[in-house]
Order: sequence, then structure tokens, then C-alpha cells
Amino acid sequence: MSRDSLSVSAVAHPNIAFIKYWGNRDNRLRLPVNGSISMNLGALATKTRVTFSPSYPRDALTVNGMAMSDAAAERVSEVLDEIRRLSGRSDFADVVSETNFPLGVGIASSAAAFSALALAAAGAAGLELKEAGLSRLARLGSGSACRSVPGGFCEWKSGGSDEDSIAHSIAPADHWHLVDLIAIFSTAHKKVGSSAGHPSAATSPYQEARVLDAPRRIQVCREAILTRDFDRLAIVSEEDSTMMHCVMMTQRPALFYWEPGSLALMKAVPAWRAEGLAAFYTLDAGPNVHVICEAGSADEVEARIRAFPTVQDVIRSGAGGPAHVVSSGLILMD
Ligand code: PMV
Repeated sequence: MSRDSLSVSAVAHPNIAFIKYWGNRDNRLRLPVNGSISMNLGALATKTRVTFSPSYPRDALTVNGMAMSDAAAERVSEVLDEIRRLSGRSDFADVVSETNFPLGVGIASSAAAFSALALAAAGAAGLELKEAGLSRLARLGSGSACRSVPGGFCEWKSGGSDEDSIAHSIAPADHWHLVDLIAIFSTAHKKVGSSAGHPSAATSPYQEARVLDAPRRIQVCREAILTRDFDRLAIVSEEDSTMMHCVMMTQRPALFYWEPGSLALMKAVPAWRAEGLAAFYTLDAGPNVHVICEAGSADEVEARIRAFPTVQDVIRSGAGGPAHVVSSGLILMD
């Protein structure tokens, strides 16, 4: 017997947060304790194809050619469960994902992955969701993924509930030609990822102060982006990154993501700024340092980063657009 099944592919970009998300008020729904602001990274992408079929015995996940049966596959199934609930269908799904950048090293691979999954799976299940609904679905897999659904510069409002804790675009990708130069010190998969780290954030005595001050940082960051005020964005982003890492380093169990090379670059970048070379740094849950600059100074900044002996590589990306469906069609199932 053969049946038709809809297969939908979607592409999404990872994002780099200038104001970070760390800690949840609801760990299952990934409702954050504070809002956050990020920029999508257009040169980096994840493409995911989802097919639902009554003939599949279970959900299957393949990432870059490797069949996955770990926690990642479970998280994918949780998002698929929500799509099955919303669409009223019970079929399992085949999920095939490919990325053009290293995974699990602080380049928000899960943000791109769950954003692409939300679009492809909702489409394949026949759900017609608007951006807000897709952002919510992506958030269930990885909080920061909700910011990869809209385009350009995005703000995730912590919101009051599951329905309104979603991201929206505050400016399109071409609003400001910022470049993220990601200094790669290590491509080893991090031992403790964000999902395991968020639940312990509240054990740090610094988390309360970080969260209380977050509305101020959000406002400064939003205004700096809207007015293209590089110095203001630089100062608030470095401050926010360091505040998050202070919490990480003092939560129990403690998480130290910085390596000696990360710290050397973190000390150099503000010194370059003081000399007149506009750049700032920010780090997610990994040792790799994101150095942000304007497009006109990217070559000079990249050359300086590459001069660090422990830098293995530099990945460059400008701002990117929204997650989008790239193909959809009926395939014949055996
Ligand atoms: O979305 P998660 O669970 O991967 O958490 C992301 C956390 C940070 O990358 C460290 C900060 C952020 O806002 O992206």
C-alpha cells in the first residue's frame, strides 16, 4: 500500500544575543526570567526536512548524516508531540537536518535547529501558524530558537504566559550592516549545554541582580540598535555577557565556559575600541568569542583576531533574515 505524505523543508539561521537569556521561570515551557535581544547570523544556516507518515514506527532524527538517538532526538520529539497535539494527527515524523557550521560550541546551533524544525514540521503537519505561533513552537525546543524565527534584530519578550513569550523583529537585517566574527578556540562539543545550565541559574546569588537590571539593559540595547549607536551597543553587550558568565561561574554546579584564549581576546577588544577600532565581544555558552563590528572594519578586526596564536579559525557572518520554508511537496510513501 502506498500513501502520499507531505514533506516540507525550512532554513533558519542561528542568532547571537546582545542581551542574553539565562534561567527560566518554567523549565518545561522554557519561559525565561528575562527578555533578550539578538541578531540572526545570515551566513550560517540549518536546513531541516520533516515528513510525517503513518508508516513510520517512531520519530527519527538525522543530523549531518548521523542518526541521533540521544537527548537531542527526545527534544525534537517533544516539539513534534506539540505539533501532533495542535494538528490532531498521530503520525511519527522523519527529520533530516544539515548545518554549515560546527554544533554545540556556542554558536546557537540549537536556535537554528529548533527554528527550522518548527517551520518545517508545522508545514508538514498542515498547520497554518503565524510568526508568533512558530516562535512559540521553536521556544519549546530551545528558548533562544524563538528569536531565530523572525528576521534581522529580534527581541524576545519574556511575556506572561506560554502564548505571549515570543520574539518579534525590531529591525530588519539590512537596518545595520553589523558583522559577527566568531573566534573559534575549540570545536569540542561542550560538556554542559544551556538546557542543563538554565535550571541552576537561580542558585547563583548574582542571578537576582542580573534579572532585576535586565529591563534597563534591554531598553539601552533596543535604542542602540534602532539609532545605530555602536558605542552604546558595545558597552551594554559586553556588560550583559559578563553578567551572564558571572552567574554561570557562581551557580551550582558552576559552569566555566571561558578558556585562556577567550579571556585574552576579551581583554584586547575593548583596548582596540579605545584606539578607535569599533568592535565589542560577547560570549554564549561556550569558549568561542563573538566579536561584533561594522562591515567596514571587518577585515581589520578579523586580521587582528587571526593573529592570536590560540585562534583556530574565524567564522564571519552579517545579519540574517527570518526562518523560511524552502520547499514543500507530496512524496509517495511505500
Ligand atoms: O536557547 P538555549 O537553551 O540554547 O539557551 C541559550 C543561552 C545563551 O546562548 C547562553 C544566551 C542566549 O540568549 O542566546
